[in-house]
Amino acid sequence: MFPSELREQEEDQVKEKKEVKTAAAANGKIDKIIDKYQGDASALIQVLLEIQRENRWLPKEALEKVSKKLEVPLNQIQHIATFYKAFSLVPRGRHEVQICLGTACHVRGGPRILDRVEEVLGIQAGQTTTDMEFTLETVNCLGCCALGPVMVVDGKYHGKIVPTEAEEVLKSCK
Ligand code: FES
Repeated sequence: MFPSELREQEEDQVKEKKEVKTAAAANGKIDKIIDKYQGDASALIQVLLEIQRENRWLPKEALEKVSKKLEVPLNQIQHIATFYKAFSLVPRGRHEVQICLGTACHVRGGPRILDRVEEVLGIQAGQTTTDMEFTLETVNCLGCCALGPVMVVDGKYHGKIVPTEAEEVLKSCK
């Protein structure tokens, strides 16, 4: 085996160990959240919100744990998790980017902002970057039309934004 192959193999093993550790830590945190409510089924949404906040999404194993510990049928939990926009059943990036394409933002250049952000991140709206850093979404109106076009990153609003500023905002997240 060449030294470079050996190094690659070692790097893969380190990465694997890291992933196992991360998964274990996440599992521990999920257990803690569920246990805090001591089997109280009425706290279901609160439990899901906390897991979502901690983990950035709701893995199936987490929903199964919640179902078992709170004694709520899994299909009922899945129904809630798909109904509310606050929950995600797929992994999400560390940074959440929303571009408004409501009418006011659309006419003021929202699509140009979206184009630039898609180009910079290398993904399309509705996707997450492979390094799990960014999730990009479009929204229909954020209720601040006078500021259009609007981009929101991790809850912070950037109004009257132009493509170059949007790029700068993304760079500042890294
Ligand atoms: S249309 Fe963008 S904030 Fe209303």
